[in-house]
Amino acid sequence: MPVVVQAKPISMAPPLESQGDPCIMVIFGAQGDLMKRKLLPALYRLVSAGRISGEFHILGVGRDKMSDDQFRAQMRDSARSPSAEMGVSSDEEWQAFGRRLHYAAGDLNDEGVYRQIGSRLETLQQEENASANRLFYFSTPPSLAPAIVGGLGAAGLATEEKHWSRIIVEKPFGRDLESARSLNAAIASVFQEKQVYRIDHYLGKQTVQNILVFRFGNLLFEPVWNRNFIHYIEITAAETLGVEHRAAYYEEAGALRDMVANHLLQLLTLTAMEPPVAFDADSVREEKVQVLRSIHPMTSEEVAEQTVRGQYGAGEIDGSRVPAYRDEQGVPRDSGTETYAAVQFRIQNWRWADVPFYLRTGKRLARPITEIAVHLKRTPQALFARTPHDRIEPNVIVLRIQPDEGITITFGAKRPGTEMHTAMVHMDFSYQTGFGASSPDAYETLLLDAMQGDAMLFTRRDEVEAQWRLITPIEEAWSNQKPAEFPNYAAGSNGPAAADQLVARNGHRWRPIGGSISEGNG
Ligand code: BG6
Repeated sequence: MPVVVQAKPISMAPPLESQGDPCIMVIFGAQGDLMKRKLLPALYRLVSAGRISGEFHILGVGRDKMSDDQFRAQMRDSARSPSAEMGVSSDEEWQAFGRRLHYAAGDLNDEGVYRQIGSRLETLQQEENASANRLFYFSTPPSLAPAIVGGLGAAGLATEEKHWSRIIVEKPFGRDLESARSLNAAIASVFQEKQVYRIDHYLGKQTVQNILVFRFGNLLFEPVWNRNFIHYIEITAAETLGVEHRAAYYEEAGALRDMVANHLLQLLTLTAMEPPVAFDADSVREEKVQVLRSIHPMTSEEVAEQTVRGQYGAGEIDGSRVPAYRDEQGVPRDSGTETYAAVQFRIQNWRWADVPFYLRTGKRLARPITEIAVHLKRTPQALFARTPHDRIEPNVIVLRIQPDEGITITFGAKRPGTEMHTAMVHMDFSYQTGFGASSPDAYETLLLDAMQGDAMLFTRRDEVEAQWRLITPIEEAWSNQKPAEFPNYAAGSNGPAAADQLVARNGHRWRPIGGSISEGNG
């Protein structure tokens, strides 16, 4: 059995708890799923923890007509649902938050709505002592974004005088390179780039931010973080969830647009980037863009060789039978949408040439796990190759993004005894046992950052276009050839067999999704 060594924090000074600037947050799409599941709980927790000032108010904008009180009651109901995980302790606590909620109805394609919103904001300033700063959140389908941007501009809501005005745009940011470019151009005609926050919630995760601390805050790892020492890198985001009630969105998106184009490419850039000259938004984002620019967009032949797509069939998850994707509500019986994607990228620069980066993501896989596994090369001389029992395998550094947040490093050690027997051991750092406190939700971090004007954890204009430059050729090649073999993996499995062949061609193998750490360090 492998040995597990626990790592514990040595010093832990309490962090300074900064506050967001006061503002009114206008949420377009306030009746949607994201509001209920993510935005409302995050804002509630920030307000309860005193991280947002008293002048903070929320104006929800949706299609249905209703009063402020009806909106508050609706939000109160969703706050009660267990999935919101808000921990509202008392009615008084909710009342203190609920009075900050306001509502306006309107069709977002109608320019008049934005003038009404403008006057509503002024009323809130006068009557509720609300702040003059404005944070507009686009929790709407991407097709509505140009209308909202135009409407805000025409109503004079984009200008900044003594106050600030910012927009947060949810993913997906467009659906290909062309639409992302035109959305960027539409935004740039109204807002300056410093007012724009393109959100990718993965960047708000503590473990994702920790990639930079791990790499650049320690002397130990960076010297080996290159092609001289690293054999290959796996980035996995596996989910057990199916498409749930999002078939309409997912049919348009698929796994590549939904996860690889944003979350997985973010993990790749943070893993591969050069050290930034400073820890500020532009320096960090500049280095991330350079990574994306060092990857050549694929030709259609390369897409055939270096990518795999899959769709789940029926199967078993946690002991329960689950239906095939094509049998999910709202999904056509002949759907060609991929629920799994695996892609091999090559970064053509001095640090990474010849090191494959394998990215994979899928719904209805064996286990929910997001991790980055960095496989080091073999030692130049296999000095202990003849020792009985286990062989010494190459070192693997696993950055566990979720759910069991932490870091594992595997290395060879001599077994106790008079003989020279070796074993692989794991040195394990767990966020939960190390720090105890649970991490804030990604949206709490990101909303607070946007209120403080810190754009480091948001995607820059050229970055989002560089992401699409890599993804669009794959989408195009895939849409030119309908997948004949779907469904090609069973729910609850490790994904399609073709994904194993993708890496096996280079003599590599994926860590099993369903296995334990000790099984998967090959
Ligand atoms: C979202 C995708 O951006 O990320 C979902 O649209 C996916 O399909 C989700 O389930 C995964 O996020 P997390 O934080 O649960 O890993």
